Amino acid sequence: MTIKNQRFPIWRTIQISMLALAVWVFGAMAFMPAFKSHSTRLVMLIVLITCLIIVARLTRKDNYRSYLIAAIASVVGAPAYYLISPVTGHGEWVFALIVIAISSQWGTRPGLLAAVLSAIEYGFFTYYQTGAVTDAFILAGLFSVSALIIGTLVKHREIALVARAHLADELEKTSETTLIALTRALDARDQDTEGHSERTAILAVEIGREMGLKEADLRSLHLAALLHDIGKIGISDAVLHKPGPLDEQEMALIHKHPQIGYDILKNIPFLNPALDTVLHHHEKYNGKGYPNELSGDSISLPARILSVVDVYDALTSHRPYRAAFPSETALEMIREEAGQQFDPQVVQVLVRILADKKKTGK
Ligand SMILES: [Fe+2]
Repeated sequence: MTIKNQRFPIWRTIQISMLALAVWVFGAMAFMPAFKSHSTRLVMLIVLITCLIIVARLTRKDNYRSYLIAAIASVVGAPAYYLISPVTGHGEWVFALIVIAISSQWGTRPGLLAAVLSAIEYGFFTYYQTGAVTDAFILAGLFSVSALIIGTLVKHREIALVARAHLADELEKTSETTLIALTRALDARDQDTEGHSERTAILAVEIGREMGLKEADLRSLHLAALLHDIGKIGISDAVLHKPGPLDEQEMALIHKHPQIGYDILKNIPFLNPALDTVLHHHEKYNGKGYPNELSGDSISLPARILSVVDVYDALTSHRPYRAAFPSETALEMIREEAGQQFDPQVVQVLVRILADKKKTGK
């Protein structure tokens, strides 16, 4: 997000205003019946074209589009005023609308340019019709004040929006850093799972991106993957790190960790979109998982992705009771479970991503 026209220098505004004014004056003079001599008209036209070229060159640089539009809108406003005035009695509102539209869209300076040009045009008309220009001065003041007020309000709103976006961004970054620290602390509890959450998060997002998840869903998947085993905090080390096989009761305790994780995170608003994935990362494609025995597409895609990556990372990591499996062996084991424990499409994408990585050596 950027603040429009924030760095536009005032002297550039004056330069553009003067040139736009010159374009208008010489353009008007070149076609005025008072100038009967062809050579005078030719000179006027040459000056007009030169001014147009300079304006075009200037507007090509930096952020001049809004000034060009302001100038064009004001010039277009003149015939509109000319046509509307005899019908409605007053056509000044055409210029007023232009000034309001320009200043609310692009801020004070382009608005002021539109105000000055509109007032001058209006001045020309009233001078030729009545011989007086007082109204034009009054309108010039009104238009300029409107442009200043509207432009300032718009700019303040934009600054507030930028500040808010910046603050939200900072807050999100801080929250994410805190979460990463938390997951590292969690992983460090068990040396064998160190780095598991972060590795899982990276690979899960890669698969999610490949499978067409939107940016917001990828962010949630990243958070869910970082925090998926946070519920293990509520399970005693005696069960969690038991060297031998677990009995039924202990297994039931382990099976509670997705629900415990869900309960820990459910009151943190920005984690709400990640909750479902945390809760269902141990569901199986064939419906034999936990905690809800969901099956197939009733398990969300992020949860199906996380389920595969979680197991792949566990298989390729060292455990006290076994060495880490090589990637190919782990993939073969996962492939065997495609359609059973895992979504076959997710497995296919994992295989493809890992093959690509191998090829590119990443
Ligand atoms: Fe888990």
